[in-house]
Amino acid sequence: MEVVIAANAAEVARLAALRVARACRSATTRRGIPPVLGFATGSSPLGLYAELTAMLEDGSLDLAGAAGFALDEYIGLPKGHPESYAEVIRRTVTEPLGLDPAYVHVLDGNSDDPLGTCARFEQAIIDAGGVDVQIVGIGANGHIGFNEPGSSLASRTRPMTLAERTRKDNQRFFDSLDEVPTQCLTQGLGTIMDAREIVMVAKGTNKAEAVAKMLEGPVSSSCPASVLQLHPNVTIVIDDDAASRLSTAEHHRMAWTNKPEWMRWDRLNH
Ligand code: F6R
Repeated sequence: MEVVIAANAAEVARLAALRVARACRSATTRRGIPPVLGFATGSSPLGLYAELTAMLEDGSLDLAGAAGFALDEYIGLPKGHPESYAEVIRRTVTEPLGLDPAYVHVLDGNSDDPLGTCARFEQAIIDAGGVDVQIVGIGANGHIGFNEPGSSLASRTRPMTLAERTRKDNQRFFDSLDEVPTQCLTQGLGTIMDAREIVMVAKGTNKAEAVAKMLEGPVSSSCPASVLQLHPNVTIVIDDDAASRLSTAEHHRMAWTNKPEWMRWDRLNH
């Protein structure tokens, strides 16, 4: 895992976007087809999506024909609800990135066959050739996707009960806690781990404890994000606040500053 500690939110977004863009370019070169991306919702990746949009506009990124898979979806929000992840992905990803909505898959939180929906979603990822680059955030309780503490590290896409901490954290998107759904569908940890490359963004002191457990704690379902320690190609881009509980923060800063030129993936067109 490479840990990049950036000076501020704008730098987190810029560096994470450069990493994602690089993964997209190399996926296209390697496989000869447009890239397949995995998308997180929430606040953390919004700057990254804005940076990708800017790259499309200046021609440094081409996502024509690209496909996407969202990490998760609430169960039970009415179709078209502005906080359903189908709508959030449409607003913040599909439209700004000019993706074909037919190629952007979001789990159906109103399906009357949730298990079938999850199984078909897994199959759609396989049919697309797998995810080239998965974008993730991290919950304050260490979740990725909506894999709450206690999730199997090998889990696949499935229904899940949201942790109370997650519901409270996400209350800011709703008028009251009662409106925050209690159930969701989420890609599993095993599903996320199948992505060829993973880019995480995290900001703020409320993520500091989860980030420290993820990077420096044992691999354990009590911190689901710690499973990323076992993935061969993960980049974690965080700000100073999110890095504030890391005992290895200085090492990561030094490694980034002293990186030899040939390893500087943040140089355009590297
Ligand atoms: C959202 C998702 C979640 C969020 C996490 C952090 O699709 O999968 O794991 O990434 O809850 O959310 P924010 O970025 O809003 O702090």
